[in-house]
Amino acid sequence: MGEEQKEKDLRKEARELFKIFFGKSKDIQKATTQTVKEITEKTLKGVQPSKEKVKEITEGIVEGIQETRKQMGGRLESVVKTLQDLTSKATSGLMEVVSGVIEGIEEVSEREKREECLRYIKERRSITFFDPNRDVPDEIIKEILNISALAPSGYNLQPWEVIVVKSKDKKEKLKEICYGQQKVEDASANIVVIANLNAAEEHVDRVLESWVELGYIKEEEREALWEQILSGWKSPEKRKRKAIRDSALFAMCVMIVARYFGLETHPMEGFDEAKLKRFLGIGKDRIVPMIIAIGYRHPEKELLPRAYRFTFEEFGKIV
Ligand SMILES: Cc1cc2nc3c(=O)[nH]c(=O)nc-3n(C[C@H](O)[C@H](O)[C@H](O)COP(=O)(O)O)c2cc1C
Repeated sequence: MGEEQKEKDLRKEARELFKIFFGKSKDIQKATTQTVKEITEKTLKGVQPSKEKVKEITEGIVEGIQETRKQMGGRLESVVKTLQDLTSKATSGLMEVVSGVIEGIEEVSEREKREECLRYIKERRSITFFDPNRDVPDEIIKEILNISALAPSGYNLQPWEVIVVKSKDKKEKLKEICYGQQKVEDASANIVVIANLNAAEEHVDRVLESWVELGYIKEEEREALWEQILSGWKSPEKRKRKAIRDSALFAMCVMIVARYFGLETHPMEGFDEAKLKRFLGIGKDRIVPMIIAIGYRHPEKELLPRAYRFTFEEFGKIV
C-alpha cells in the first residue's frame, strides 16, 4: 500500500472513530479526546508521527466534527481548550497529533462562525410566547439597534427611527392598540419602527458631510448631489416608498441581530396606527411599518412548526 493511501485510511479511521465516539457520548470534547487517544495508541504505537499523518488524523477528526456539527450546534472553542489541556499532558508524539488537530479545529471553527450567521436566519421565528418574567437590559436593546443601523438605505439616508416601549403601564396601553395581542405585554419590550418621510431633508446634510470627509465626493460635487437626492423624494408616493423600504430592511436586521443575543422577536402590523401615533406623539410626517416585540422565549411553551415557504421555483426565475 502506498504512503498516500495509508494516510487516507488514517484520516478515514479518525473521522469514523470520532463519529462513533460522538454518537455514543454526544459530547464533542470527549469524542475528540477519545479519538486522539485511540488513534495514537493503535496506529502510531509511540512512533513520532509524520506531518502528513498528523494532517490526515486532523482532517479525519475535523471531517467527523463537520458531519456531526448539526447535532452539536454551537462553536468549537471549548474543544480547542480541551485539546490544549491534552497537549500539556501528552507525550511528544501525541503533542504533534494534538497540535495538528488544534490547527484543523481552528480552521473549522472559523467556518462555523460564518455558518452561525445562517443559523440566525434559519432559526428566527415569530415567537408568540415570551417569558413575561425576563427583562432584556436597555443596553442590549441599544446594542441591537446600533448594530441594525448598519442596514443599507438609499443614499444612506437612514430614514428609520424607533421608540422602545418597555414600561409595564405603557406596554398595557400598547397591547390595547395592538388589538389585545398578548405578546405585546409578555415581551420585555416592543420596538416601534418608524419611517421618517422627511429623512431626505433632515439627514441629507449630515450624509453628504460624511461623504466629503471620507473622500467619496469632492466639495464642489456636494450641491448637485444634494439636488439629486432631494428630487428623488419629491413625490409623496416616492417618499413613502423609500422611507418604508429602508425602515423594513432595518427591522429585518433587528430580528436577526436579536437572535445573536439569544433573544426572540415578533413583527406586528396588527395595530391601530392613528391611536399609536397619538399615544406616542408620532407626527403626521412619520409612518409606522411595524412593531417588533422582543424578549426571551417562554421556557415551557412550544411553538408550532414553521409554516409553508414558497421555494425559488415558485417565486423566482433566473433570466
Ligand atoms: C410586517 C409583518 C407584520 C406582522 N404582523 C403580525 C401581527 O400583527 N400579528 C401576528 O401574530 N403576526 C404578525 N406577523 C408574523 C407573521 O405571521 C409571520 O412572520 C409569518 O407567519 C411567518 O412565520 P415565522 O415568522 O415564524 O417564520 C407579521 C409579520 C410581518 C413581517
